[in-house]
Amino acid sequence: AYTETNESSRGKISERTLTLFSPCKINLFLRIIRKREDGFHDLASLFQAIGFGDTLELTSIDSDADEFTCNMPGVPVDNSNLVLRAIQLMREKTGEKQSFRANLIKQVPAQAGLGGGSANAATAMWGVNELMGRPASLDQMVEWSGALGSDITFFLSRGTAYCTGRGEIMSSIDPPLPSGTKICIVKIDIGLSTPSVFKALDYDKLSNLNADDVLLPTFLRGIDQVPDSYFVNDLETPAFKCIPELRSLKEELLGVAGFDHVMMSGSGTSIFCLGEPKDNKDFHDRFVSRKGLQVFFSEFISRPEGVWFEKP
Ligand code: C5P
Repeated sequence: AYTETNESSRGKISERTLTLFSPCKINLFLRIIRKREDGFHDLASLFQAIGFGDTLELTSIDSDADEFTCNMPGVPVDNSNLVLRAIQLMREKTGEKQSFRANLIKQVPAQAGLGGGSANAATAMWGVNELMGRPASLDQMVEWSGALGSDITFFLSRGTAYCTGRGEIMSSIDPPLPSGTKICIVKIDIGLSTPSVFKALDYDKLSNLNADDVLLPTFLRGIDQVPDSYFVNDLETPAFKCIPELRSLKEELLGVAGFDHVMMSGSGTSIFCLGEPKDNKDFHDRFVSRKGLQVFFSEFISRPEGVWFEKP
């Protein structure tokens, strides 16, 4: 499930390193239910893990302090970093004293709605637990993860999950399309912070499709049964208000490129496409090679119980 190296070359200290895959996610639907008194929003969303992600190298070290490095400029390296906060949370909850070195090799862009940072935190929790000798159960980590951020719990699922509350009430479900289903992600160079998108939300413009009774049961019957209007993300309208170019990009991906379903993931600014473009060469010429766009090809992934964070 992961590579493990034991090295005692640094003198008396025996360091152990795990190399862990940290996938990202898309939201097949995302309904905003209401604004809560604590400032967060109750939502209902079908999350799906995809095989595009980052790599986290985690090493147990003989030191009083954790160490963190990352190849992507702009990722905070201080204690606001989610990986360091996940390590600290695991120490507090388990009572273990172990310190860690984390090297994060990032590919997933930030402010993309792909849950990259949340995935890194969940991966760190899981890896720390392994290196500590599994003091925590998966159920405990699921319970603890919500305190770090709303999307982190999902990344402790089997790969497809229905999430409610702030996002942290998570039930793993069977994927509506098999593992390996192709997905294409198109990301404009500009990002959007989640709070700025929530701030632009107009509560009169939310979808009226009920998530529990209508959307979820329909998706569970298999994506080929789902009408295009059910691929709904209530955060699209506010995100499109912030960046109008996103709306035209979505329309182009549906119309000109001809994908079956196209929608924004999370709070943006990634747009994902299901199905195939009408013409691969034309898609490449118009989108893949367009300045200001990044295009990633990936696939749905699922993780059978016990084989977490293996790169598929
Ligand atoms: O939980 P997380 O740190 O990912 O949330 C980032 C921000 O997104 C929150 O501070 C809040 O402004 C907004 N948010 C929200 N409702 C949610 C999740 C996030 O309003 N369910």
